[in-house]
Amino acid sequence: MTILNILTYPDKFLSQPAKPVENIDGAIQNIIDDMSSTIYEAPGVGLAAIQVGFDQSIIVYDISPRDENRSLHVLINPKIISSEGTTISENEGCLSVPDYRADVKRSASILVEGFDRKEKPLKIEAHGHLAVVLQHEIDHLNGILFIDRISSLKRGLYKRRIKKLLRQK
Ligand code: NI
Repeated sequence: MTILNILTYPDKFLSQPAKPVENIDGAIQNIIDDMSSTIYEAPGVGLAAIQVGFDQSIIVYDISPRDENRSLHVLINPKIISSEGTTISENEGCLSVPDYRADVKRSASILVEGFDRKEKPLKIEAHGHLAVVLQHEIDHLNGILFIDRISSLKRGLYKRRIKKLLRQK
């Protein structure tokens, strides 16, 4: 298994939508294995394939990655079927947006459908933290970063900071 390089903003690859997986073949299984090692190495709670350079609709997540009983979940071609209520994620962050956190308005509960890596259909009713993580990762598959969901004032400040950092390199 390989630790993959995580793309960061403003990499344009991050803003393109992922393609649905048509065949869960060996190549897809390899991507999933590499994403699994990468998420724990980072460490992060969620990772979308687009963040590691694959435009395929795959996410992996584990909302207790530091616990001894890790349990990695794989979701292929996830779709939000319904959503309810609103919540504000506190200090949302992203491996592709280093050193920045913000509160983001999210749905409080969602129903997600997709497939696991054995092609078994999944239906996940998510609330609270899990609901936020899944919305964040599914956003990635649509080319959306959490900074696209904050006020343009805050986003502008962040973008200026990054531009300045890039100039210094
Ligand atoms: Ni992210």
